[in-house]
Amino acid sequence: EQTLRALGERHRLYIGTAVDMAALNDANDPQYRALVGSEFSTVTAENVMKWESLEPTRGTYNWGPADQLIDFARQNRQLVRGHVLVWQNQLPSWLTSGVANGTIGTEELRGLLRNHITNVVTHFKGKIWQWDVVNEAVSDPWDSPPAIHLKGFWAQQLGAGYIADAFRWARAADSKALLFYNDYNIEAFGARDSSDKTQFVYDMVKQLRDNRVPIDGVGSQGHLGTQYGNYDAFAVADALNQFSSLGLATAFTEVDARSQMTAGVQAGDSNEINPRVQASAFNYSVLLQACLSNRHCLSFTVWGFTDKHSWVPTWFTNPPEGLATLYDENYQPKKAYQTVKADL
Ligand code: XIL
Repeated sequence: EQTLRALGERHRLYIGTAVDMAALNDANDPQYRALVGSEFSTVTAENVMKWESLEPTRGTYNWGPADQLIDFARQNRQLVRGHVLVWQNQLPSWLTSGVANGTIGTEELRGLLRNHITNVVTHFKGKIWQWDVVNEAVSDPWDSPPAIHLKGFWAQQLGAGYIADAFRWARAADSKALLFYNDYNIEAFGARDSSDKTQFVYDMVKQLRDNRVPIDGVGSQGHLGTQYGNYDAFAVADALNQFSSLGLATAFTEVDARSQMTAGVQAGDSNEINPRVQASAFNYSVLLQACLSNRHCLSFTVWGFTDKHSWVPTWFTNPPEGLATLYDENYQPKKAYQTVKADL
């Protein structure tokens, strides 16, 4: 039986997964570690490169878990996607509370962000293939107001210019790593109006390119909900092609396709004739085929590969969702795994 990474190599496509460091180090869960090493040619830290993990106390960096992942990757001949430099979530509380109570002002905050990017990119210099420099900066049509806009802590505190700054600071610290803008809900162009997030991101990265800001790629996360139905293969391929026609690389960076656990869907249903479980496999295939059809699509990374260790059931609780990954909770390959394998 061929592995996904071996099959991906035939297309020069890297196949990746997010890695949960607790699971990787759990001696009672050896299959997790074995499969990360055998099936994947690139890894992403699910949490340990986020700011709250790297600098839990102001001025004290905790590099240990992230360095461990880098070592694991080297031993297994894997490339590392760095995730993430600038994001409004999982910030250390000393930073968010300092801003909230006014002890950290705007100029200091800008300096803190600049130092953070410089410190982190320098620490990992030469070891990171792609950096997610800015993550999830853009609103969704279901946010308020529905017209798409720059959202979140950094835009509110520093204004829109933080995005270009972040890319410049990252490039200055490591001239070789590929620098990505990363977001979800940009798999396809939709309404092509003021509520079209994909269009907004397209316009944003085009402007960065036009302004000679050092951005190399767009990461489409690919967190799919099967309740939205089957994605359109042509529309997904078109979105990648539009991004790459700006001279940018593309990648799927956090793929999973979750199902609502209501209406008779159970854990363990993974290979049953259940329309939502079939839809999960189908949607993996849509994203993978779009990536395979785009010469500039460098990697296809899943956000966890087993339902035993997936963020979906903890995050999407109302209604409960799950069954989002390639393997079930007992490390049995699911229909999604077979479909991905057949496509490669
Ligand atoms: C998620 C992790 O999987 C969870 O363990 C954590 O509690 C929250 O963050 N988009 C991203 C990822 O860019 O960093 C998020 O990861 C999932 C959504």
